[in-house]
Amino acid sequence: MKNLTIRLETEKDYRAVEELTREAFWNVYKPGADEHYFVHMMRSHPDFIPELAFVLEKDGEIIGNIMYTKAWLEDEQGERREILSFGPLCVSPKYQRTGLSRLLIEHSFEKAREMGYDVNINLGNPANYVGRGFVSCKKKNVSFMLDGNFPTALLVCELVPGALDGRKWMYIPSTAADCCEDTAAAAAFDAAFPAKEKAWMPSQEEFYIYSHSSVVR
Ligand SMILES: CC(C)(COP(=O)(O)OP(=O)(O)OC[C@H]1O[C@@H](n2cnc3c(N)ncnc32)[C@H](O)[C@@H]1OP(=O)(O)O)[C@@H](O)C(=O)NCCC(=O)NCCS
Repeated sequence: MKNLTIRLETEKDYRAVEELTREAFWNVYKPGADEHYFVHMMRSHPDFIPELAFVLEKDGEIIGNIMYTKAWLEDEQGERREILSFGPLCVSPKYQRTGLSRLLIEHSFEKAREMGYDVNINLGNPANYVGRGFVSCKKKNVSFMLDGNFPTALLVCELVPGALDGRKWMYIPSTAADCCEDTAAAAAFDAAFPAKEKAWMPSQEEFYIYSHSSVVR
């Protein structure tokens, strides 16, 4: 695809990124979406990393974006290290499935390595990420509670190969997404966008399956 540029998000992009996020996520994981509210709120959260908030432009139109927060891994001795977690990541529906998310992921990973980060962990649909170096958390001994439960959707990417050394790690995500628990605030924020029909889509059932399952063997 021609005329693509990746650059850092600026304040002038905020609304366009929120609109894009709303379009991309609408009805995918539930009827409607909260991710545009998450985007709006995370920019003022202390864990947000503005140096890794990128937009993808085609002919001057923002058609994709990626945003990161800090997250942490803690071993059984309580040793803690700062890592990354991206999301939301989205591509405009009219350009999806053409490989554009790869550009955003690879570009931001390169910058993240320059900043000294060596691990990124996300919750997500494995199909979107296994071709980008992500593996099951089980293979890297990462879980939420050091309890041997390895959620299917918890995916680990070593930005520097070998960064994780087989130790048991507890994944501690940022609290940035907690804002979405305030459903009234999210709905009020959404009300300022054009009306859009909420509907069921099969991807919601797919999301239910991978977000309620674990890798056991
Ligand atoms: C998920 C999303 C970011 C992926 O971006 P994209 O540019 O459309 O995806 P890509 O074309 O780079 O494909 C990513 C992977 O999805 C899979 N994929 C591609 N086309 C697919 C299709 N038609 N059906 C199922 N999976 C497909 C492939 O595994 C592909 O990896 P590969 O290139 O190694 O084969 C984008 O579809 C999107 O914005 N979706 C809505 C929001 C969302 O779910 N964001 C992610 C959660 S934070």
